[in-house]
Amino acid sequence: MSKTYKIAAIPGDGIGNEVVPAGLRVLEAAAKRHGFALKVQSFDWSCERFARTGRMMPEDGLDQLKSFDSIYLGAVGYPGVPDHVSLWGLLIPIRRGFRQYINLRPIKLLAGIETPLKNRRPGEIDFYVVRENNEGEYSEIGGRLYAGTEMEMAMQQAIFTRTGCDRVMRYAFELARTRKKHVTSATKSNGIIHSMPFWDERFAAIGKEYSDIKADQYHIDILTAHFVRHPDWFDVVVGSNLFGDILSDLGPAVVGSIGIAPGGNINPERDLPSMFEPVHGSAPDIAGRGVANPIGQIWSGAMMLDHLGEHAAADAIERAIERVLASGGPRTPDLGGNAGTEDLTRAILDAVG
Ligand SMILES: NC(=O)c1ccc[n+]([C@@H]2O[C@H](COP(=O)([O-])OP(=O)(O)OC[C@H]3O[C@@H](n4cnc5c(N)ncnc54)[C@H](O)[C@@H]3O)[C@@H](O)[C@H]2O)c1
Repeated sequence: MSKTYKIAAIPGDGIGNEVVPAGLRVLEAAAKRHGFALKVQSFDWSCERFARTGRMMPEDGLDQLKSFDSIYLGAVGYPGVPDHVSLWGLLIPIRRGFRQYINLRPIKLLAGIETPLKNRRPGEIDFYVVRENNEGEYSEIGGRLYAGTEMEMAMQQAIFTRTGCDRVMRYAFELARTRKKHVTSATKSNGIIHSMPFWDERFAAIGKEYSDIKADQYHIDILTAHFVRHPDWFDVVVGSNLFGDILSDLGPAVVGSIGIAPGGNINPERDLPSMFEPVHGSAPDIAGRGVANPIGQIWSGAMMLDHLGEHAAADAIERAIERVLASGGPRTPDLGGNAGTEDLTRAILDAVG
């Protein structure tokens, strides 16, 4: 009996509706080839649904998702619905409710992709950003006073717990142990004088548990410069929710295109489903034109299969993406070509076999 995984697909908004079906086709092909099955159920949770019902997802949304092995998300957000509504109405409740406290994003320069950096070759840039995904600067604690008056003020609390810092840092060190054995921490303890020195203290304490791993840290401002000037320095970079968010968009930008960058929201304990989604958003500017690059979504699917334990299938998809790009296969406009989503998807499907 082959194994069957239950997947909840949430295409969301904009190009999510174009790249999720593309990703699912590639996942199905890899599953067939590698002797397992996927049982996919689609959910229409989106800004369109918000406009219709006043909610991005039903009240019992998390209960509906709980029994799935994994969640495969496109992107949410569309003009007309404020971005904080779409984010806090769907993405953040899932990330927090399912304790997906790791946001994992590989940054890899692939052959056939032109990087905006001069003289960088494939293989030279290959690292992970591990972003804290449940607390930090993205908290709903705060409020406004004297709204609409000259005295108006807004206050937002950042939350850093010992548990929250330690677990994301341990994940980063464990990941580095399987790679080049180097963890870099993003900090700003010169300017943010309570939470960031605490973050540094916890990084030093956890680092002591991993004497075989090199640990260093940079303030976020110079770290962004090093991402551009010395991306070859890094192996695993760990950051708070906000710093990790910024670094994990900058990373894909230095290796060519946000359209190819994958990501995972991971529950390392595996007691609740993890969720895989590309780094890019719903791209309303190109939605409906059939030109979105499906690679970020497809690669996120490979990360999902890897998390489910289907390593050979995950590897086959990654190799297929690399082969299509390296051999001058179809390119969508963001990669300088004029192919459509369908052309690139079909080429990857052929390469998966
Ligand atoms: N995780 C998510 O669901 C998520 C992430 C980021 C942004 N968003 C939402 O998406 C909406 C648009 O946000 P944005 O414009 O800042 O970011 P975006 O990633 O949607 O788009 C940025 C630029 O990159 C291009 N782009 C993105 N993905 C592409 C792809 N696969 N192929 C080709 N080009 C691609 C777009 O055309 C656009 O020019 C907003 O509502 C935002 O809140 C959602």
